[in-house]
Amino acid sequence: MEDLVERARSAQDDAHVPYSEYRVGAALRTADGTVFTGCNIENANYSNSLHAEELAVGKAVEAGHREFDRLAVSSSERDGVTPCGMCRQTLVEFCHDDLVVVCDEGDATPEYRLGDLLPDAISAETLGK
Ligand code: THU
Ligand code: ZN
Repeated sequence: MEDLVERARSAQDDAHVPYSEYRVGAALRTADGTVFTGCNIENANYSNSLHAEELAVGKAVEAGHREFDRLAVSSSERDGVTPCGMCRQTLVEFCHDDLVVVCDEGDATPEYRLGDLLPDAISAETLGK
């Protein structure tokens, strides 16, 4: 099993999921090989819940990183969960279409490209920036 997927699995241990009981872990690799992890953190009002990918991106950006090449996502169900629509858009802000997203099906780890998961996303280019 690839190390990045292992990191995404381990990150689930810190999830706060009293409502869904569905743990998600994410591991985001920067261009220099540093890995930032995230887990989902739910809230009693439901809508304030943080997604694992959001946390991983936030931690990496806060640490000064802006270039990413690979993301692994894993759930406690090993169901091959992919980033939701909101997280795909969050990733687009900092990652190129060729970011590889690795999903965890347990015995298989299919890979996708961010540009295929969210084609025609709004981005800085859309706004002429
Ligand atoms: N979840 C994530 O952490 N990432 C996603 O992109 C999909 C959904 C979390 C949110 C919630 O805590 C649980 O999974 C069930 O939706
Ligand atoms: Zn999400």
